[in-house]
Amino acid sequence: MRLSRYFLPVLKEDPKEAQIVSHRLMLRAGMIKQQAAGIYSWLPLGYKVLRRIEQIVHEEQARAGHIPLLMPTLQPADLWRESGRYDDYGEEMLRVQDRHKRDLLYGPTNEEMITDIFRSHVNSYKDLPLTLYHIQWKFRDEIRPRFGVMRGREFLMKDGYTFDLTRDAALHAYNRHLVSYLRTYERMGLQAIPMRADGGPIGGDYTHEFLVLAETGESEVFYDSQITDLTFGDRQIDYDSVEQCQAVLEEFTSRYARTDETHDEAIFAQVPEERRRTARGIEVGQIFYFGTKYSQAMGATVVGPDGARVPVEMGSHGIGVSRLLGAIIEANHDARGIIWPEGVTPFHVGIVNLKQGDNSTDSACDAIYAELQARGLDPLYDDRDDRAGAKFATMDLIGLPWRITVGPRGLAANKVELTSRRTGETEEMSPKDAIARLEQVYAPVLGLKVQDK
Ligand SMILES: Nc1ncnc2c1ncn2[C@@H]1O[C@H](COP(=O)(O)OP(=O)(O)OP(=O)(O)O)[C@@H](O)[C@H]1O
Ligand SMILES: [Mg+2]
Repeated sequence: MRLSRYFLPVLKEDPKEAQIVSHRLMLRAGMIKQQAAGIYSWLPLGYKVLRRIEQIVHEEQARAGHIPLLMPTLQPADLWRESGRYDDYGEEMLRVQDRHKRDLLYGPTNEEMITDIFRSHVNSYKDLPLTLYHIQWKFRDEIRPRFGVMRGREFLMKDGYTFDLTRDAALHAYNRHLVSYLRTYERMGLQAIPMRADGGPIGGDYTHEFLVLAETGESEVFYDSQITDLTFGDRQIDYDSVEQCQAVLEEFTSRYARTDETHDEAIFAQVPEERRRTARGIEVGQIFYFGTKYSQAMGATVVGPDGARVPVEMGSHGIGVSRLLGAIIEANHDARGIIWPEGVTPFHVGIVNLKQGDNSTDSACDAIYAELQARGLDPLYDDRDDRAGAKFATMDLIGLPWRITVGPRGLAANKVELTSRRTGETEEMSPKDAIARLEQVYAPVLGLKVQDK
């Protein structure tokens, strides 16, 4: 993309309405525009990151063997009357009527609808296990929408639903989700810690929230500092293996890590004092095993091996896709702007032309731009006729992890500058070497094969 042709409405001033840094930076970098309280348009740069995050979620769901589908945003109220949640959900639910005076609602979640799909089409235990998920907009009429996309009213969520014959199988599905979520967040450059959560009225221990530590987080969290040393890395897990998934769950949940809802001072006191931490966190996902709550209420049963019908065992598993942009920025920024992790950056590299209009500089930039694209990289070329300082400030604000700076003086010696946004380090090298370096950096992200020199 050439910046002269792009739509990147950056703001010079800090917007007054933004209370936290991620909201401020998303507005300043021209990523979102508020249309009503908690309702946003996703401008091109924000939309690009949103799609990268969605893509990672889809890839990791596929790896775990989960199947995508798409359910509508509007749902008939009758389904929710069956489960009893139409009345229970309260004012957070946006209710609407169509022209025939039929009650609809804008879905805040999809347990009822997926259970309806299941009961219409699945009859036998032989069709299990089954995990269906979608990435779809939700609406919750939050009393206090705030912090930009972190607590919106309309927001994008990945929600997946598991169907199994037995409780053990459903718990394996739960563990499988925990493993795949660990991988998913790490690919986005985030450490999201599974913390024991409150099962609410359904009860049970089988729910964990994933929290990203950040001062601006809305949850208070308590944990054993050893937990932050754990990383999932690129281990190969067989998602069908009960033992392997169980082992990961044990590794990542055996140390103390709870939110204020489940915090227990007496148990926390058993953690050695120097390892006890109290902090704040952003909830970026939750996994939940709830058994037959919906299948029983809505008659979603399967014929078991002995010929008897039993209600199917279920769980639901969510990732806050749009909230993740805020969480990633909270965890990755400095005074000059955003610092995208390579896995989610909207563009892989920015090209800054220091002397727009100069024939040799323009053609060197064009050549670098074309070569990066030919190698599967996605560059943003600042080809506007503007001061170098202004171009650098824009690149720093929008947070591309790498910048290639091209000027006539360097080019005379066949050199450009390659700068890391995170460390600020700059190296001089030939355009060819800069391109090769970027190809190497992004190889794991893009799944590219790096060719031998
Ligand atoms: N209002 C919102 N705006 C943006 N993302 C949200 C919002 N509510 C929930 N999410 C995201 O969707 C994920 C799954 O939804 P879930 O039903 O678990 O939310 P929740 O527990 O009600 O969230 P919260 O406690 O933050 O209100 C959450 O982990 C969170 O990341
Ligand atoms: Mg939750």
